[in-house]
Amino acid sequence: MKIVVTGGLGFIGSHTVVELQNEGFEVVAIDNLSNSSEKVLDGIFNITGKKPIFEKMDLRDKASVQNFFKKHNDVAGVIHFAASKAVGESVENPLLYYENNISALVYVLQELAALPNVNFIFSSSCTVYGQAEKMPITEDAPVQQAMSPYGNTKQIGEEIITDVAKVTHINAILLRYFNPIGSHPSAEIGELPLGVPQNLVPFITQTAIGLREKLSVFGDDYPTADGTAIRDYIHVVDLAKAHVVALKRLLEKNNADKVETFNLGTGKGSSVLEVITAFEKVSGQKLNYQIVGRREGDITEAYANIDKANTVLGWKAQSSLEESLASAWKWEQKIRQQ
Ligand code: WQD
Repeated sequence: MKIVVTGGLGFIGSHTVVELQNEGFEVVAIDNLSNSSEKVLDGIFNITGKKPIFEKMDLRDKASVQNFFKKHNDVAGVIHFAASKAVGESVENPLLYYENNISALVYVLQELAALPNVNFIFSSSCTVYGQAEKMPITEDAPVQQAMSPYGNTKQIGEEIITDVAKVTHINAILLRYFNPIGSHPSAEIGELPLGVPQNLVPFITQTAIGLREKLSVFGDDYPTADGTAIRDYIHVVDLAKAHVVALKRLLEKNNADKVETFNLGTGKGSSVLEVITAFEKVSGQKLNYQIVGRREGDITEAYANIDKANTVLGWKAQSSLEESLASAWKWEQKIRQQ
């Protein structure tokens, strides 16, 4: 069965391509390489012994999207990762985010709406909850006013898919990720942040390897046990596997509704200082960090209620925070050898 993965050479996309190939799916990866490189195809090959079909393409080019789905009209499912994802950048450059994260989604859905029976998995984010009232966060927690254009594009994306599914053959699953971290245990693929990392874990590993002088901890005056903010850090391979489980749910027509939503997290919250302590333990290195002021737009706490994912989807994250951090560190060391 042919599965199209947009953003297929990206961080979560590439790990999902590996898991799809492991399950015997034929994969077509689309990527515009704005935040990745074709070398990722070699990494995927080194893991699975297969290279996906790769089409370098920008989904903002409507004609290319139309031609692509004319060629691949036998597609059984689409997993849509392609999007810009840096919160801060989205504030500086909202139009880039609305074009890349919304227009591209619309062009893909327009083509899928014309196909007989397509299954669609959407990469969403816990950011849609803003600062949720109650922990752990369930899927029916209210979607709150987005804190950034990036978060808004995820909310709008979910709404577009819901509206389109009502009047087309499209069945969809919205996957709301918590904080994806780590790398494939083989260290053949992993996170490749361009420039200065926005996210905590790549900044930690780049500090530990000597690329960054020190980590700034954004605030220790939050109302949490140690004053630093809490997140739910989930291993990217666990996350990738959840996409295959969700896709199979649709392919086997086990979905309960045309559109279903699942939180993907470990169900465990970890503070920034706890992440640092866990990293120091797995790397055997002291991390150079300094407490600074809060980052604009950050929330205090977010971790997932995993009951629906466990009981309805039938998926559960397997890796601990330490295992996830160890894989991130192994990857950082590997890519700095070259
Ligand atoms: C985690 C914690 C920071 C960097 C965002 C998006 C989410 C997803 C993941 C795309 C926070 C603290 C961070 C640093 C720090 N994006 N931190 N020093 O903001 O929870 O989530 O990225 O898929 O949709 O909202 O992740 O890794 O940036 O921050 O202290 O140098 O680490 O304040 O508490 P975040 P993050």
